[in-house]
Amino acid sequence: DWNPDNVIADQVASIQAQVGSGKVICGLSGGVDSAVAAALVHKAVGDQLVCVFVDHGLLRQDERRQVEEDYVTATGVRLVTVDAREQFLTALAGVTDPETKRKIIGREFIRTFEKAQADLIAEAKAEDGDPIKFLVQGTLYPDVVESGGGSGTANIKSHHNVGGLPEDLNFELVEPLRTLFKDEVRAIGRELGLPEVIVGRQPFPGPGLGIRIVGEVTAERLELLRAADAIAREELTAAGLDNEIWQCPVVLLADVRSVGVQGDGRTYGHPIVLRPVSSEDAMTADWTRLPYDVLARISNRITNQVPGVNRVVLDVTSKPPGTIEWE
Ligand code: XMP
Repeated sequence: DWNPDNVIADQVASIQAQVGSGKVICGLSGGVDSAVAAALVHKAVGDQLVCVFVDHGLLRQDERRQVEEDYVTATGVRLVTVDAREQFLTALAGVTDPETKRKIIGREFIRTFEKAQADLIAEAKAEDGDPIKFLVQGTLYPDVVESGGGSGTANIKSHHNVGGLPEDLNFELVEPLRTLFKDEVRAIGRELGLPEVIVGRQPFPGPGLGIRIVGEVTAERLELLRAADAIAREELTAAGLDNEIWQCPVVLLADVRSVGVQGDGRTYGHPIVLRPVSSEDAMTADWTRLPYDVLARISNRITNQVPGVNRVVLDVTSKPPGTIEWE
């Protein structure tokens, strides 16, 4: 019988055996996998672990706080946050092509993480001459199978791991989730007392809101999209629909404007797209038939509360032919 307590006990023992008294580093993305992997390692070796969280400015509302406060309170991990918001905005200035955005975000992410890593290694060495030797990765069983089952070295789809890592690793990897499926990882996270907002989180792409703005990414547009996304998520959760939806990208069509009428005058604003999908594995998906009253509430709130948005539209395309994300 599969039981989270046994898996936790086994993993803690094998992490201790692997790591000994060595120092360990882990990048947190805000997602489930890295959060659970880090919590297991922390349970095994306590403050030998240091976690790094990069705020690239493309996060959703409240995500940074959830990591810095809720997660840290629940686990007691030592966390270093790197505020790289300006750096990412500068790197993305003028860029509209989706793949170029992804490349830039991935590149800046690795640079930022490597810099933080180098600082922490120097700090660790200065402390007691002992550098950081281990790196935690939240690799799941399906990732292992998909990438050919290689072990011990980083073998990761760059696409799915902006939260993941540089290739020229001098680290030994610690991968406590290698034998687990996603629902098992969630069960372990709950057993470890991690915040439900993190453990129950729906998939969110590494490049974040950067690939949900069709057009150039700017601070103002991010602000606006973040507000619209928060409203949609709040209403979907309040309606009890989180389990019916695989994820619901909220997209800002920043290069499109349409005429509207609001209050005492004409507006010329941007549309927001809702893209709720149902899926088993994101390879194929169908658009979720959301109740009209929920759609109406989301639409009313977004158009009333998010300045600059005067229209909300619903994406009714399955995958294929549409991808889940718009970029
Ligand atoms: P698409 O848009 O290809 O998305 O149907 C399939 C799933 O992958 C997620 N996604 C990404 N995740 N980096 C990621 O980490 C990316 O660049 C990326 N692009 C798409 C998407 O949210 C969906 O769950």
